[in-house]
This record gives sequence, C-alpha cells and structure tokens, in this order.
Amino acid sequence: MATDTSSMKLEKVAPSAEDFLPLLGTDYVELYVGNAKQAAHYYQSAWGFQPLAYAGLETGMKDRVSYVLQQDKIRLILTSPLESGGDINRHIDAHGDGVKAVALWVDDATKSYQETVSRGAESYMEPKTIKDEDGEVVLSGIHTYGETVHIFVERKNYHGVFMPGYQEWKTDYNPEPVGLKYIDHMVGNVGWNEMNKWCEFYAKVMGFAQLISFDDNDISTEYTALMSKVMSNGNGRIKFPINEPAEGRKKSQIEEYIDFYNGAGVQHIAVATDNIIETVTQLKARGVEFLYVPENYYDTVLDRVGEIDEDLEPLKELGILIDRDDEGYLLQLFTKPVLDRPTMFFEIIQRKGAQSFGKGNFKALFEAIEREQEMRGTL
Ligand code: FE2
Repeated sequence: MATDTSSMKLEKVAPSAEDFLPLLGTDYVELYVGNAKQAAHYYQSAWGFQPLAYAGLETGMKDRVSYVLQQDKIRLILTSPLESGGDINRHIDAHGDGVKAVALWVDDATKSYQETVSRGAESYMEPKTIKDEDGEVVLSGIHTYGETVHIFVERKNYHGVFMPGYQEWKTDYNPEPVGLKYIDHMVGNVGWNEMNKWCEFYAKVMGFAQLISFDDNDISTEYTALMSKVMSNGNGRIKFPINEPAEGRKKSQIEEYIDFYNGAGVQHIAVATDNIIETVTQLKARGVEFLYVPENYYDTVLDRVGEIDEDLEPLKELGILIDRDDEGYLLQLFTKPVLDRPTMFFEIIQRKGAQSFGKGNFKALFEAIEREQEMRGTL
C-alpha cells in the first residue's frame, strides 16, 4: 500500500511519458576505506551484515582488496588499496573513509550509459563486460557530485555469488542480522549554492523528478541552517535528497561535512527496517552510537504526530524520532558519524505509510548535531 501511494504521488510530479533510465534498485554502495578488513568486521559485528564475496590477491586482484557484505537487499563493498599511490589512496587522503560509488541495478548498462552521457553526464567508465564461469555482468559509470560516481550494473546474465572477479567469502564468526531490509534513500551534501545544479543534473541527465524541498526556514535552528531538495527516479525506488549549507549564526553541519570531506559527498545512508525498536535495540547492544535526543522531545511529540501503534516508552528509551505526513507516519533515528572525520552517518527508518523524510524532526535533530559540533569545536 505504501508503494502504491508513493507511485501515485510521483505521477503528479513526474508527468514525463517515458522513463529513459529505468532503475531496478540500488545494487551496492562501495566505500573506499583505510582498512577494509577491520571495517568489514565492524559492519558484520555491529550492524549484522553477512559475508558475501571477496576480491584480493587470492582472486588475482593485485592493487586492491574488496569485501562485499549483505543484509537482505543492502550490499556494501569495502575497498582498500594494496599499494602506495593510486586513485584509492588519493581518495582516502582527500576524503577519509567515504562512499565512492552508488551502484544502480539496471536491465541495460550500455543503454543507461548512452542515455545519461548523451544528456551531459561525465563518463567514469565506458560499458565493459566481465565474465566468469557463472556468466557475465555489464558495468558502466558516470560522475556525480564531488568524486562520487554512479555505476550501472546489468546482471541479468549472471548467476554467481556477486560478480566476476569475486569469490564467495565465508567467515566463522557471523553475528545475526539486525533486520535491515533495503536502502530507503541516500543523501548528498554539496557546496554553497550547488543544490540546484545537482538537482538539475538528476532531472536532466537521469530523468529524476523533485519530490519535496525544504528551505532554510524549515531547517534552521538558532545557529545553523541548510537547504534540501529530494530527487526521485520514475518508479520511486531511488531517492536522493541533496543538501547545501545555508547562512546561519554559526557553522552549518553541511559546511562542517564539506570542510572535513574536502568537497561534496554522501552524507547519510538511510536503511529501512520493519521493526525499528528491535533493530535499534540490537544495534545499541552491539555498540552503534546514535545521536542523543533530549527527553523533552517526547513531552509534546504525540500532540504533533497524533496516535501511533507503538508504545511511547521504548521509543523514548531508544531515542527514536517520530514524524507524520498526509499519508501516515514514520519512525527514524540517526547514528553519530561512523568514521573519525565528522562526515558520513546512517539513518534507521521505519515507514508506516509516510513517504516523507522527517521534516518535523529536523529542528530537534540539528540541535542534537550542534551539541556534537560544540564538543568538536566546529560549530
Ligand atoms: Fe534521511
């Protein structure tokens, strides 16, 4: 039902007849990290991701190592360089650990490349076919904001565990999944006055439509502000909110991100669960750190959002936020940055009809982020 309302809503804003870039979903998210082996252990132990595939010296990969982890429909690749110099090292030097590629699952990676490049996308990887005994995968890629890229993955003729070049990866220590289902949305932070440019990129080059926008009146506290627009593809499976900093009395969290990441990049990955209380209880027990929400948030929240199915007490104990729109409500919670630089973090979200992004929580949330910035001396 939620999916139906979403597509109805999209038709209102996306009247274009033909979707020239049909996207089946997010295929994987690849992070370039300083130590992929240890990062993989973190995502297994703390987040309940399961080992899926591996590429490295043992598989003939000479210059890098990649671990692929999976939880339901979510796939993460953690990649580290095995040599000095080169692009991955330079990326890590500039940005710290961070998202390099947001890969999109398509039926035709060659056509996806042609449609986007002919509309002005900068090429990252021309279509190439890779093969092994389990079949073939076609990959192509384009640049987006900062040094982030989109890879188009065509895997309809592949039956192996992940893709050619990888072997199955098994580990003895496999903590249980925590109930994460799929990527709900991925947010990009871009520089001053760049939000519209990148929204136009997603509209013109990838055929996305704008769902919602927030201006600095919606998203401001006493000190900081930002602006945000949400871009979605035709079937609503891919949603990319784009943030830019806005002028405030002190430094915006978006500006802090841009400073530490040295440019635009992925700010957060929102992952969906069917039971946020269970998922967050598990994550907290395994040491994942969340933003602290002031207890007084819960004094008035039900006046704002009305009746909900859940008891308020466990939500309050776990610091889970609630928001409502015309179509229902949602429950959400944000981690602290999962890296040493104050850059990328995760959002846990459970939708109960609502198709929006928690605008009503922004103020409480940003005040929580500002408390952290204050401690870092970057406010
Ligand atoms: Fe979000």
